Amino acid sequence: MKFFKSSPSSLQEIILDNEKLPQHIAIIMDGNGRWAKKRFLPRTLGHKAGVEALRDIIKTASNTKIAYLTLYAFSTENWNRPNDEVSALMELLVEYLRKEGEELHSNNIKINTIGDIDGLPEFARKEVLRAKELTKNNTGLWVNIALNYGGRDEIVRGIKRIAKDIKEDKISIEDINQEVFSSYLETANMPDPDLLIRTSGEYRFSNFLIWQSAYTELWFTDILWPDFRGEDLLMAISDFQKRERRFGKV
Ligand code: IPE
Ligand code: IPE
Ligand code: MG
Repeated sequence: MKFFKSSPSSLQEIILDNEKLPQHIAIIMDGNGRWAKKRFLPRTLGHKAGVEALRDIIKTASNTKIAYLTLYAFSTENWNRPNDEVSALMELLVEYLRKEGEELHSNNIKINTIGDIDGLPEFARKEVLRAKELTKNNTGLWVNIALNYGGRDEIVRGIKRIAKDIKEDKISIEDINQEVFSSYLETANMPDPDLLIRTSGEYRFSNFLIWQSAYTELWFTDILWPDFRGEDLLMAISDFQKRERRFGKV
């Protein structure tokens, strides 16, 4: 596959190797607030602008034949933001799913979530369930939206499920290994992310996929999320393809 990235001075060619595509890409979509601040706008308009980026990234990932895209949309720690910002984010989510659900569906995209959606306000939970139900049989790009998601919370909830199954004699303590443990997480039946992208120049996980990212390749950019576009995703994939993954071997 060949693409062109337009930089201010020149057209840069991006060539991707179809044989070496990451199967699973995870993205920490960060920098909406700073994008708005730079323009003297309220933070919520930064989130709104972030939806444009989201649209473009889903389209590009789908066209590039990526299998799984996991997007960090709302963390378990984001509840500590001002109420009006939390509400605006929930409303934006609902608006997005209502407006774009059908189009995602017609593009064979499957909407899934990771995180505790029971903790979402009812109007948001309902819309999320509706989008999941609508797209559940689709076979194209699988989009995981991380909502009320925290890696530590996911691990603790996984442990509780294991404990319950032990108590009910469904498994024994000896059965537990890394693979079994993974199957109790929200990402059960998905490959670990091959590539994790974080925008906005921050270099941390912020509680995202901490178990699953043990051997994930990391890619950081200063671009703020609302400015991130498909061609930036392709650049990240192109960089990924130049890396040598060793998984502890020589
Ligand atoms: C990411 O942008 C979106 C969410 C966390 C929901 P931020 O809102 O964190 O933007 P910054 O980091 O303040 O710029
Ligand atoms: C991580 O970004 C969460 C999402 C992108 C949804 P944050 O902006 O919440 O993370 P910190 O606070 O900078 O670590
Ligand atoms: Mg942030």
